[in-house]
Amino acid sequence: MTAPVAPAQPQPSRADGERALFAREFLRSPLRTASLVPSSAALTARMVAGLPATGDPVVVELGPGTGVFTTAIAERLGGRGRQLAVEVNERLAAALRPRHPGVEVITGAAAELPRLLGERGIDGADAVVSGLPWTVYFDGPRPLAPILAEVLAPGGVLTQFSYPWTAWTPPARRQRAQLRAAFEEVLVTRTVWRNLPPALVYVARRPRPSSSPASAASTTVWEAATASSPSPDASPVSAPAAG
Ligand SMILES: C[S@@+](CC[C@H](N)C(=O)[O-])C[C@H]1O[C@@H](n2cnc3c(N)ncnc32)[C@H](O)[C@@H]1O
Repeated sequence: MTAPVAPAQPQPSRADGERALFAREFLRSPLRTASLVPSSAALTARMVAGLPATGDPVVVELGPGTGVFTTAIAERLGGRGRQLAVEVNERLAAALRPRHPGVEVITGAAAELPRLLGERGIDGADAVVSGLPWTVYFDGPRPLAPILAEVLAPGGVLTQFSYPWTAWTPPARRQRAQLRAAFEEVLVTRTVWRNLPPALVYVARRPRPSSSPASAASTTVWEAATASSPSPDASPVSAPAAG
């Protein structure tokens, strides 16, 4: 007579483990982690849509967390160029390294980016993909947007996600003002509804030289009607800006 076989217990998936890690880090440091769950596949797709499809670009990710954007960037690059990820939280950075041996995972702060890239012989990034909370734009001795403009190559692109319902709060307005002052073009995508919470993406191009005075008149800002009907796959849209 054979012994009864116990039903197999479901094993937690890697995604479950990543969500648990992210939630733990959120509870440890809610302001710095800024989200209880990693970004969705829909937001991830929007964040990496503008990455160069050819050549050997240098792509820098800020605030990779558990690595949802990291994986998508690696897939898009397919071994081309150089991929770096700068994460201030050592536990998150340490968890990321073994899963992404092809990515230079750096424990450090976004504001240190010029030095971190300089030390690695990089004089210009082709893309910066930022999952940073907006507090990081204001909490250093220098605003963050001009630092990002400084490290980007002239043809480079910055993507940064944010939230539509906070768009008219003072910190969000200050963040947009910083981006407009540092970049000649700032696009805002339609709302990505398939994300918790729904999000939008700023796409900034043509970094201004740091010595050049920002000219609001020459700033091209296109904003989506962020409260428009769900359109998860839309590209940046061209509707005149309000803010
Ligand atoms: C909202 S989470 C985004 C995580 C991931 N990119 C995603 O979308 O699921 C913000 C991440 O930024 C990191 N972070 C916060 N401040 C930072 C800083 N000054 N420099 C680098 N990373 C930072 C946090 O530790 C966290 O991993």
